[in-house]
Amino acid sequence: MAQQPDRGDLLEMADLLTPAAIRAAATLRVADRLGAGADDVVKLAELTGTRADLLELLLRHLVDKGVLTQDDDGTFAVTELGARLREDHPASLRAHLAQDGLYGRADLALVDLLHTLRTGEPAHGAVFGRGYWETVNEDPAFVEALERSEARPQLGWGAELIFDTYDWQQVRRVVDVGGHSGAILMELLHRQPRLHGTLVDLKNAAEVAGRRFAAAGLGDRAEAVVGSFFDPLPAGGDVYLLSAILADWSDEQAVAILRRCAEAAGPAGKVLVAEVNLRVARETPGSAALELWLRATMPAPVRTVEQVKALAGAAGLRPTWEGPVTSVRSILEFTPC
Ligand SMILES: C[S@@+](CC[C@H](N)C(=O)[O-])C[C@H]1O[C@@H](n2cnc3c(N)ncnc32)[C@H](O)[C@@H]1O
Repeated sequence: MAQQPDRGDLLEMADLLTPAAIRAAATLRVADRLGAGADDVVKLAELTGTRADLLELLLRHLVDKGVLTQDDDGTFAVTELGARLREDHPASLRAHLAQDGLYGRADLALVDLLHTLRTGEPAHGAVFGRGYWETVNEDPAFVEALERSEARPQLGWGAELIFDTYDWQQVRRVVDVGGHSGAILMELLHRQPRLHGTLVDLKNAAEVAGRRFAAAGLGDRAEAVVGSFFDPLPAGGDVYLLSAILADWSDEQAVAILRRCAEAAGPAGKVLVAEVNLRVARETPGSAALELWLRATMPAPVRTVEQVKALAGAAGLRPTWEGPVTSVRSILEFTPC
Protein backbone atom coordinates (compact mmCIF):
# COMPACT_ATOMS: atom_id res chain seq x y z
CA MET A 1 0.00 0.00 0.00
CA ALA A 2 1.29 3.48 -0.85
CA GLN A 3 2.57 5.38 2.17
CA GLN A 4 0.23 8.17 3.26
CA PRO A 5 1.78 11.65 3.45
CA ASP A 6 1.77 13.00 7.00
CA ARG A 7 0.36 16.35 8.13
CA GLY A 8 3.72 18.05 7.67
CA ASP A 9 3.90 16.92 4.06
CA LEU A 10 0.47 18.37 3.36
CA LEU A 11 1.31 21.70 4.94
CA GLU A 12 4.51 21.80 2.91
CA MET A 13 2.59 21.01 -0.28
CA ALA A 14 0.12 23.80 0.49
CA ASP A 15 2.80 26.34 1.41
CA LEU A 16 2.51 29.65 -0.44
CA LEU A 17 5.43 31.43 1.15
CA THR A 18 8.29 29.60 -0.51
CA PRO A 19 6.91 29.90 -4.06
CA ALA A 20 6.26 33.59 -3.41
CA ALA A 21 9.77 34.04 -2.00
CA ILE A 22 11.43 32.36 -4.98
CA ARG A 23 9.36 34.46 -7.38
CA ALA A 24 10.18 37.65 -5.48
CA ALA A 25 13.88 36.75 -5.67
CA ALA A 26 13.56 36.12 -9.41
CA THR A 27 11.80 39.46 -9.92
CA LEU A 28 14.44 41.32 -7.88
CA ARG A 29 17.25 39.50 -9.76
CA VAL A 30 18.76 38.46 -6.45
CA ALA A 31 20.92 35.68 -7.92
CA ASP A 32 22.44 37.95 -10.57
CA ARG A 33 23.10 40.72 -8.10
CA LEU A 34 24.74 38.37 -5.63
CA GLY A 35 26.92 37.06 -8.47
CA ALA A 36 27.87 40.63 -9.39
CA GLY A 37 29.19 41.36 -5.91
CA ALA A 38 26.17 42.75 -4.05
CA ASP A 39 26.50 39.96 -1.52
CA ASP A 40 25.37 41.72 1.65
CA VAL A 41 21.85 42.73 2.52
CA VAL A 42 22.39 46.47 2.66
CA LYS A 43 23.88 46.65 -0.84
CA LEU A 44 21.26 44.32 -2.21
CA ALA A 45 18.41 46.26 -0.60
CA GLU A 46 19.69 49.46 -2.18
CA LEU A 47 19.89 47.87 -5.62
CA THR A 48 16.49 46.22 -5.41
CA GLY A 49 14.56 49.07 -3.81
CA THR A 50 13.56 46.93 -0.83
CA ARG A 51 13.78 47.25 2.94
CA ALA A 52 16.99 45.66 4.21
CA ASP A 53 15.37 44.15 7.33
CA LEU A 54 12.70 42.39 5.29
CA LEU A 55 15.02 41.45 2.46
CA GLU A 56 17.23 39.74 5.00
CA LEU A 57 14.28 37.59 6.07
CA LEU A 58 13.69 36.62 2.45
CA LEU A 59 17.34 35.68 1.97
CA ARG A 60 17.45 33.70 5.21
CA HIS A 61 14.32 31.79 4.19
CA LEU A 62 15.94 30.98 0.85
CA VAL A 63 19.00 29.75 2.79
CA ASP A 64 16.68 27.46 4.79
CA LYS A 65 15.30 26.11 1.53
CA GLY A 66 18.74 25.48 0.01
CA VAL A 67 18.47 28.17 -2.67
CA LEU A 68 21.16 30.39 -1.10
CA THR A 69 23.98 29.97 1.41
CA GLN A 70 25.13 32.44 4.04
CA ASP A 71 28.76 32.65 5.18
CA ASP A 72 29.91 33.36 8.72
CA ASP A 73 30.65 36.94 7.69
CA GLY A 74 26.97 37.33 6.72
CA THR A 75 27.42 37.37 2.95
CA PHE A 76 25.04 35.39 0.76
CA ALA A 77 25.70 33.26 -2.33
CA VAL A 78 23.65 31.14 -4.71
CA THR A 79 23.69 27.34 -4.39
CA GLU A 80 23.56 24.91 -7.31
CA LEU A 81 19.78 24.73 -6.83
CA GLY A 82 19.47 28.52 -6.84
CA ALA A 83 21.76 28.94 -9.84
CA ARG A 84 18.83 28.66 -12.26
CA LEU A 85 17.64 32.00 -10.88
CA ARG A 86 20.62 33.58 -12.67
CA GLU A 87 19.85 35.20 -15.98
CA ASP A 88 22.93 33.73 -17.66
CA HIS A 89 22.34 30.14 -16.55
CA PRO A 90 21.88 27.90 -19.60
CA ALA A 91 18.58 26.62 -18.13
CA SER A 92 17.63 29.93 -16.49
CA LEU A 93 14.18 30.17 -14.90
CA ARG A 94 14.55 33.79 -13.83
CA ALA A 95 12.39 35.38 -16.49
CA HIS A 96 9.89 32.54 -16.32
CA LEU A 97 9.35 32.99 -12.58
CA ALA A 98 9.52 36.77 -12.41
CA GLN A 99 6.30 38.50 -11.40
CA ASP A 100 6.76 40.96 -14.23
CA GLY A 101 7.17 38.12 -16.72
CA LEU A 102 4.45 36.77 -18.98
CA TYR A 103 4.27 33.32 -17.35
CA GLY A 104 5.05 34.50 -13.85
CA ARG A 105 2.11 36.87 -13.95
CA ALA A 106 -0.25 34.24 -15.34
CA ASP A 107 0.77 31.84 -12.55
CA LEU A 108 0.06 34.34 -9.78
CA ALA A 109 -3.67 34.23 -10.49
CA LEU A 110 -3.72 30.61 -9.30
CA VAL A 111 -4.11 31.84 -5.73
CA ASP A 112 -7.81 32.17 -6.60
CA LEU A 113 -8.25 28.86 -8.36
CA LEU A 114 -11.46 28.62 -6.35
CA HIS A 115 -12.91 31.45 -8.45
CA THR A 116 -12.32 29.39 -11.59
CA LEU A 117 -13.82 26.29 -10.00
CA ARG A 118 -16.95 28.21 -9.05
CA THR A 119 -17.46 30.31 -12.15
CA GLY A 120 -15.48 28.69 -14.96
CA GLU A 121 -13.81 32.07 -15.51
CA PRO A 122 -10.05 32.67 -15.49
CA ALA A 123 -8.85 33.88 -12.12
CA HIS A 124 -6.66 36.83 -13.15
CA GLY A 125 -9.44 39.40 -13.14
CA ALA A 126 -10.70 38.21 -9.77
CA VAL A 127 -7.23 38.53 -8.21
CA PHE A 128 -5.92 41.66 -9.88
CA GLY A 129 -9.08 43.54 -10.83
CA ARG A 130 -8.34 43.53 -14.55
CA GLY A 131 -7.65 40.95 -17.23
CA TYR A 132 -4.28 39.35 -17.88
CA TRP A 133 -3.80 40.90 -21.32
CA GLU A 134 -4.71 44.38 -20.11
CA THR A 135 -2.17 43.99 -17.32
CA VAL A 136 0.73 42.90 -19.46
CA ASN A 137 -0.06 45.48 -22.12
CA GLU A 138 -0.75 48.52 -19.97
CA ASP A 139 1.86 48.15 -17.23
CA PRO A 140 5.29 49.35 -18.42
CA ALA A 141 6.92 46.67 -16.20
CA PHE A 142 6.00 44.05 -18.82
CA VAL A 143 7.63 45.74 -21.82
CA GLU A 144 10.90 43.97 -21.13
CA ALA A 145 9.21 40.57 -20.98
CA LEU A 146 7.52 41.25 -24.30
CA GLU A 147 10.81 42.44 -25.81
CA ARG A 148 12.40 39.20 -24.68
CA SER A 149 9.81 36.99 -26.34
CA GLU A 150 12.03 36.47 -29.36
CA ALA A 151 10.31 36.32 -32.71
CA ARG A 152 10.79 32.72 -33.79
CA PRO A 153 10.45 30.82 -30.52
CA GLN A 154 7.01 32.43 -30.20
CA LEU A 155 5.84 30.47 -33.22
CA GLY A 156 4.21 27.47 -31.68
CA TRP A 157 0.99 25.59 -31.32
CA GLY A 158 0.88 24.57 -34.96
CA ALA A 159 1.31 28.10 -36.35
CA GLU A 160 2.80 26.58 -39.51
CA LEU A 161 -0.78 25.87 -40.67
CA ILE A 162 -1.11 29.61 -41.23
CA PHE A 163 1.97 29.81 -43.45
CA ASP A 164 1.68 26.50 -45.27
CA THR A 165 -1.97 25.84 -45.97
CA TYR A 166 -3.57 29.19 -46.85
CA ASP A 167 -3.28 30.75 -50.31
CA TRP A 168 -1.44 34.00 -49.51
CA GLN A 169 -0.56 34.65 -53.16
CA GLN A 170 -3.85 36.51 -53.72
CA VAL A 171 -3.57 38.63 -50.57
CA ARG A 172 -2.26 42.18 -50.72
CA ARG A 173 -2.69 43.24 -47.08
CA VAL A 174 -3.27 41.13 -43.99
CA VAL A 175 -4.40 42.62 -40.68
CA ASP A 176 -3.04 40.50 -37.84
CA VAL A 177 -5.60 41.12 -35.11
CA GLY A 178 -4.05 40.57 -31.69
CA GLY A 179 -0.71 39.93 -33.36
CA HIS A 180 1.32 40.12 -30.12
CA SER A 181 4.90 41.21 -30.75
CA GLY A 182 4.88 40.39 -34.46
CA ALA A 183 6.32 36.87 -34.76
CA ILE A 184 3.61 35.52 -37.04
CA LEU A 185 3.31 38.61 -39.22
CA MET A 186 7.09 38.81 -39.68
CA GLU A 187 7.27 35.16 -40.67
CA LEU A 188 4.44 35.66 -43.15
CA LEU A 189 6.08 38.72 -44.70
CA HIS A 190 9.43 36.90 -44.97
CA ARG A 191 7.71 34.09 -46.84
CA GLN A 192 5.47 36.34 -48.98
CA PRO A 193 7.65 39.16 -50.33
CA ARG A 194 4.70 41.07 -51.89
CA LEU A 195 2.47 40.93 -48.83
CA HIS A 196 1.88 43.97 -46.59
CA GLY A 197 0.70 43.71 -43.00
CA THR A 198 -0.93 45.71 -40.23
CA LEU A 199 -0.70 44.37 -36.70
CA VAL A 200 -3.26 45.49 -34.13
CA ASP A 201 -2.68 44.87 -30.45
CA LEU A 202 -2.82 46.65 -27.10
CA LYS A 203 -0.12 49.17 -26.21
CA ASN A 204 2.94 47.24 -25.05
CA ALA A 205 2.69 44.42 -27.57
CA ALA A 206 2.01 46.76 -30.51
CA GLU A 207 4.91 49.04 -29.60
CA VAL A 208 7.31 46.11 -29.27
CA ALA A 209 6.06 44.75 -32.62
CA GLY A 210 6.62 48.13 -34.28
CA ARG A 211 10.22 48.25 -33.06
CA ARG A 212 10.75 44.68 -34.23
CA PHE A 213 9.42 45.41 -37.72
CA ALA A 214 11.81 48.34 -38.05
CA ALA A 215 14.78 46.31 -36.76
CA ALA A 216 14.00 43.53 -39.24
CA GLY A 217 13.93 45.98 -42.15
CA LEU A 218 10.21 45.42 -42.68
CA GLY A 219 9.22 49.01 -41.92
CA ASP A 220 7.98 49.57 -45.48
CA ARG A 221 5.65 46.56 -45.44
CA ALA A 222 4.58 46.20 -41.83
CA GLU A 223 2.96 48.63 -39.44
CA ALA A 224 1.84 48.16 -35.85
CA VAL A 225 -1.27 49.92 -34.59
CA VAL A 226 -2.24 50.29 -30.95
CA GLY A 227 -5.89 49.35 -30.60
CA SER A 228 -8.41 46.96 -29.16
CA PHE A 229 -10.19 44.29 -31.15
CA PHE A 230 -13.35 45.24 -29.28
CA ASP A 231 -13.20 48.61 -31.10
CA PRO A 232 -13.41 49.26 -34.85
CA LEU A 233 -10.36 47.78 -36.63
CA PRO A 234 -8.33 49.44 -39.40
CA ALA A 235 -10.04 49.14 -42.78
CA GLY A 236 -8.28 48.11 -45.98
CA GLY A 237 -7.21 44.55 -45.22
CA ASP A 238 -7.97 41.71 -47.60
CA VAL A 239 -7.64 39.21 -44.76
CA TYR A 240 -8.20 39.73 -41.03
CA LEU A 241 -6.22 37.05 -39.22
CA LEU A 242 -7.21 35.89 -35.74
CA SER A 243 -4.47 33.53 -34.57
CA ALA A 244 -4.84 31.97 -31.13
CA ILE A 245 -7.22 34.70 -30.00
CA LEU A 246 -10.65 33.25 -29.33
CA ALA A 247 -9.54 30.80 -26.60
CA ASP A 248 -8.85 33.79 -24.38
CA TRP A 249 -12.46 34.96 -24.50
CA SER A 250 -15.97 33.84 -23.62
CA ASP A 251 -18.44 33.03 -26.42
CA GLU A 252 -20.03 36.47 -26.16
CA GLN A 253 -16.68 38.26 -26.34
CA ALA A 254 -15.46 35.99 -29.15
CA VAL A 255 -18.53 36.92 -31.21
CA ALA A 256 -17.83 40.62 -30.55
CA ILE A 257 -14.22 40.22 -31.81
CA LEU A 258 -15.36 38.31 -34.90
CA ARG A 259 -17.95 41.02 -35.58
CA ARG A 260 -15.25 43.72 -35.50
CA CYS A 261 -13.24 41.70 -38.02
CA ALA A 262 -16.30 41.19 -40.23
CA GLU A 263 -17.13 44.92 -40.19
CA ALA A 264 -13.57 45.91 -41.10
CA ALA A 265 -13.24 43.21 -43.78
CA GLY A 266 -16.45 44.28 -45.54
CA PRO A 267 -18.07 42.15 -48.25
CA ALA A 268 -14.85 41.81 -50.28
CA GLY A 269 -12.63 40.81 -47.36
CA LYS A 270 -12.00 37.59 -45.48
CA VAL A 271 -11.62 36.65 -41.83
CA LEU A 272 -9.11 33.86 -41.26
CA VAL A 273 -9.49 32.14 -37.90
CA ALA A 274 -6.45 30.03 -36.99
CA GLU A 275 -7.65 28.92 -33.60
CA VAL A 276 -5.73 26.85 -31.10
CA ASN A 277 -7.32 23.89 -29.41
CA LEU A 278 -5.48 23.19 -26.20
CA ARG A 279 -7.13 19.88 -25.32
CA VAL A 280 -5.00 17.93 -22.87
CA ALA A 281 -5.24 14.16 -23.29
CA ARG A 282 -6.18 12.44 -20.04
CA GLU A 283 -3.29 9.98 -20.47
CA THR A 284 -0.72 12.83 -20.58
CA PRO A 285 1.32 12.73 -17.36
CA GLY A 286 0.20 15.63 -15.17
CA SER A 287 -2.80 16.27 -17.43
CA ALA A 288 -5.09 17.39 -14.60
CA ALA A 289 -2.60 20.02 -13.42
CA LEU A 290 -2.00 21.30 -16.95
CA GLU A 291 -5.70 21.51 -17.71
CA LEU A 292 -6.47 23.26 -14.44
CA TRP A 293 -3.74 25.81 -15.19
CA LEU A 294 -5.20 26.43 -18.64
CA ARG A 295 -8.73 26.79 -17.29
CA ALA A 296 -7.56 29.20 -14.60
CA THR A 297 -5.79 31.37 -17.17
CA MET A 298 -8.13 31.34 -20.20
CA PRO A 299 -11.89 30.88 -20.53
CA ALA A 300 -12.10 28.54 -23.52
CA PRO A 301 -8.89 26.62 -24.22
CA VAL A 302 -10.88 24.01 -26.13
CA ARG A 303 -13.46 24.73 -28.87
CA THR A 304 -14.28 22.38 -31.71
CA VAL A 305 -14.28 23.53 -35.32
CA GLU A 306 -18.09 23.37 -35.25
CA GLN A 307 -18.18 25.63 -32.19
CA VAL A 308 -15.87 28.16 -33.88
CA LYS A 309 -18.11 28.10 -36.95
CA ALA A 310 -21.17 28.71 -34.77
CA LEU A 311 -19.52 31.76 -33.16
CA ALA A 312 -18.55 33.08 -36.60
CA GLY A 313 -22.14 32.53 -37.81
CA ALA A 314 -23.41 34.60 -34.89
CA ALA A 315 -21.03 37.37 -36.00
CA GLY A 316 -22.39 37.36 -39.57
CA LEU A 317 -19.63 35.27 -41.14
CA ARG A 318 -20.06 32.24 -43.40
CA PRO A 319 -17.33 29.63 -43.92
CA THR A 320 -15.68 29.78 -47.35
CA TRP A 321 -12.61 27.58 -46.86
CA GLU A 322 -11.49 25.02 -44.35
CA GLY A 323 -7.88 23.96 -43.88
CA PRO A 324 -6.52 20.94 -42.06
CA VAL A 325 -7.30 20.38 -38.40
CA THR A 326 -4.44 19.19 -36.20
CA SER A 327 -4.48 18.19 -32.56
CA VAL A 328 -3.61 21.75 -31.58
CA ARG A 329 -5.02 24.05 -34.26
CA SER A 330 -7.62 24.55 -36.97
CA ILE A 331 -7.72 27.10 -39.78
CA LEU A 332 -10.96 28.42 -41.24
CA GLU A 333 -11.71 31.22 -43.70
CA PHE A 334 -14.96 33.16 -43.42
CA THR A 335 -16.61 35.81 -45.57
CA PRO A 336 -19.00 38.43 -44.21
CA CYS A 337 -22.58 37.56 -45.25
C1 LIG B 1 -2.58 34.28 -27.16
S1 LIG B 1 -1.93 35.77 -27.78
C2 LIG B 1 -1.91 35.39 -29.50
C3 LIG B 1 -0.84 36.14 -30.22
C4 LIG B 1 -0.67 35.82 -31.70
N1 LIG B 1 -1.84 36.16 -32.48
C5 LIG B 1 -0.23 34.39 -31.90
O1 LIG B 1 -0.90 33.66 -32.59
O2 LIG B 1 0.83 34.01 -31.37
C6 LIG B 1 -3.28 36.91 -27.62
C7 LIG B 1 -2.98 38.31 -28.09
O3 LIG B 1 -4.18 39.09 -28.01
C8 LIG B 1 -3.80 40.39 -27.59
N2 LIG B 1 -4.96 41.08 -27.02
C9 LIG B 1 -5.57 40.85 -25.84
N3 LIG B 1 -6.60 41.69 -25.69
C10 LIG B 1 -6.64 42.48 -26.78
C11 LIG B 1 -7.50 43.53 -27.22
N4 LIG B 1 -8.54 43.93 -26.49
N5 LIG B 1 -7.25 44.10 -28.41
C12 LIG B 1 -6.20 43.69 -29.18
N6 LIG B 1 -5.35 42.69 -28.82
C13 LIG B 1 -5.57 42.09 -27.64
C14 LIG B 1 -2.73 40.12 -26.57
O4 LIG B 1 -1.98 41.28 -26.26
C15 LIG B 1 -1.93 39.02 -27.27
O5 LIG B 1 -0.96 39.57 -28.08
